[in-house]
Amino acid sequence: MAKIFEEESRTFSEYLLVPNLTTEKNTPDQVDLSAPIAKYRKGQEESRLKINIPMVSAVMQSVSDDGMAIALARCGGLSFIFQSQSIESQCDMIKRVKKYKAGIVESDSNLSPEDTLETVIALHEKTGHGTAAVTEDGSPEGRLLGLVTTRDYRVSRLSPDTKVKEFMTPIEKLVTAPEGTSLKEANDIIWDNKINQLPIVDSEGRLVGLVFRKDYEFHKANPHELLDSEKKLIVGAGINTRDYQERIPALLEAGADVLCLDSSDGFSVWQERALKWCKENYPEAIIGADCGADFIKIGIGGGSICITREQKGIGCGQASAVLAVAKARDEYFKETGWYIPLCSDGGIVHDYHMALALAMGADFMMLGRYFARFDESPTRKLLVGGTYVKEYWGEGSNRARNWQRYDDGGKGGKMAFEEGVDSYVPYAGNLKDGLDTSLAKVKATMCSCGSSSIEEFQQKARLVVVSSTSIIEGGAHDVIQKENDRTAR
Ligand code: XMP
Repeated sequence: MAKIFEEESRTFSEYLLVPNLTTEKNTPDQVDLSAPIAKYRKGQEESRLKINIPMVSAVMQSVSDDGMAIALARCGGLSFIFQSQSIESQCDMIKRVKKYKAGIVESDSNLSPEDTLETVIALHEKTGHGTAAVTEDGSPEGRLLGLVTTRDYRVSRLSPDTKVKEFMTPIEKLVTAPEGTSLKEANDIIWDNKINQLPIVDSEGRLVGLVFRKDYEFHKANPHELLDSEKKLIVGAGINTRDYQERIPALLEAGADVLCLDSSDGFSVWQERALKWCKENYPEAIIGADCGADFIKIGIGGGSICITREQKGIGCGQASAVLAVAKARDEYFKETGWYIPLCSDGGIVHDYHMALALAMGADFMMLGRYFARFDESPTRKLLVGGTYVKEYWGEGSNRARNWQRYDDGGKGGKMAFEEGVDSYVPYAGNLKDGLDTSLAKVKATMCSCGSSSIEEFQQKARLVVVSSTSIIEGGAHDVIQKENDRTAR
């Protein structure tokens, strides 16, 4: 007869934390949010890889490309670049992240002099960047002819078909610096000339990169950047259970620092084989997956775009899943001395869910919807019904066609049915601003629970299951909220 578990499966929203004594040590500036990624003998050594904030972005087309990876690593987190693309293009993305030099960036908004104001506006909408380089051929490394910033045009005064060459700031009027200029020198030039950006050009006048004043300020304000021993940004990559023998070597060669098996169901012989092969052939590689991995990813069907539970009737409430795996992990640590970091994947809706996931035993979280909302995600920002939204689709949707993730062990190359949806999420602006707010809340919760680190938080946390009526009590209730107030939250 089938086994019926006695405990109900529960989600994060069904729990609340009960505060502990807050002392002078418990102020947000003293909270350490770093988290281990690779298993280690706790108490005897440090984890080989740690992230500075407990957040990684999901292995998804609509979330984790090189742009997101750069932005998130600069804030202390980590992206896993999606694997539902060719090995070559995934490796190119990894290389672009590893090549990124904080400070000197490849121009990603480029125009040719024959482009029109209409194109400029569309490009601005798409990238969110106010500066575009004008090069002879419109490429990021073409001969530089000028710059267009939002100060160069007034939409109300210029016709949309006005050519870029008519309103750009031409190169003769720009301050530029030669290739080889150090970041420090570039920043000095920016300050001395009171400019906002400095193009770096080679001896033939070709664009090498741009240095922005705001990047300098960002760098000063962000001591948490996630860097490797060569001061390059750290980046992760998704892999699958089909082509791992080709994909893993290529990704490691391209510079991927950590891998993650991207699969809708980790409890399979295919995952076991892929993991075993990786460990035998690349024992130094850090890999997240199911049993035997360097970190364990938890979650089936809890993701915002997931319909696995509806389609297959399989899954478990995310809170119950994290609690159950954390219990087993802690027992394993007691028996063997090995601490296995846990990643709670999917189902984080409110910022307070992050604190709950950590309290329940996760060391860090993987998020899709959360990151998809920001400028830095790879998808389009659209105006729908008067509100800005970003596109967000599941890896199991027809749009992503990531059949390797939903592998049934058959011939492959097709998905028999969808396990994810194509959707919009509310646009949330800039990643750094959003993260600052979310993490301020996590830190505040930890302080209320008398904890200064994730480990201490896990050990001290006390949780209660809340009744449906107390959930209502938890929100604003029995008042008529002002419209402004509602949108501000
Ligand atoms: P959130 O809730 O953060 O979840 O948006 C992101 C996680 O959802 C998983 N994922 C899917 N699950 N069908 C599924 O059943 C899908 O199409 C799908 N796409 C992503 C994945 O684990 C991700 O990290």
